[in-house]
Amino acid sequence: MLAIIGGSGMAQLSCLEISHRQIIRTPYGEPSGPFTFGKINRHEIVFLARHGHGHTIPPHLVNYRANIWALKTLKPAHIIAVAAVGGIRDDLKPGSLVVPDQIIDYTYGRDFTFFENRDEPVTHIDFTRPYNAETRTLILKAARRAGEAIIDSGVYAATQGPRLETAAEINRLERDGADMVGMTGMPEAALAREQGLRYATLAVVANYAAGRGTNIDGIPLKAIFAILDEAMTHVRNILEHLVNCYGD
Ligand code: HPA
Repeated sequence: MLAIIGGSGMAQLSCLEISHRQIIRTPYGEPSGPFTFGKINRHEIVFLARHGHGHTIPPHLVNYRANIWALKTLKPAHIIAVAAVGGIRDDLKPGSLVVPDQIIDYTYGRDFTFFENRDEPVTHIDFTRPYNAETRTLILKAARRAGEAIIDSGVYAATQGPRLETAAEINRLERDGADMVGMTGMPEAALAREQGLRYATLAVVANYAAGRGTNIDGIPLKAIFAILDEAMTHVRNILEHLVNCYGD
């Protein structure tokens, strides 16, 4: 089974033939909502809306541990995390799709690890390559088969939100080496790695980052949802091909 975590602009997965919904309890509290099970082209899928069904959970309040723990109990072959980002690098224009290969974490105050207890052996995870290589390849291959343009690689900067960044902060992120900026990439990716899950992100560029492109003086927030709406048709096309590539 494949798992899909939907981000902003993807509160549901309209290409999914739904069979049932299930609430999963975890030692870490409530996940973002019930898990939706169903099929795309006869392949089993489980879907979770990261921000809740009605898009009510802001990035810093998402219970990332509960979401990842619950997914782990379902033993998914891969987790595809769809996430909206702002584009910093010149070629990451609104509507572009990217499969990032690196992360810089600027978040704080979130529950970011499963390994927090004093009485357990100290556990470190290797995070040199934060995304699973096979999951990344699967997304890229599916996009090519679907005839959708996709950008391979980029550095995802995870910021705390919920406010967007200042232009100076975006300049700093760029100097740090970031190509795109989003608010939900961490700790989700690290928690998936701690649980040994195959996880990669399909990033959807919703806007030019603050101070970039046409957003020199501000980010038109209403336009973001229109861009995401349009981009999601391409994401769905990729996911429909992805289920067929999986197992190739
Ligand atoms: N910054 C942070 N997160 C985002 C952005 C942004 O510009 N766009 C979509 N998610």
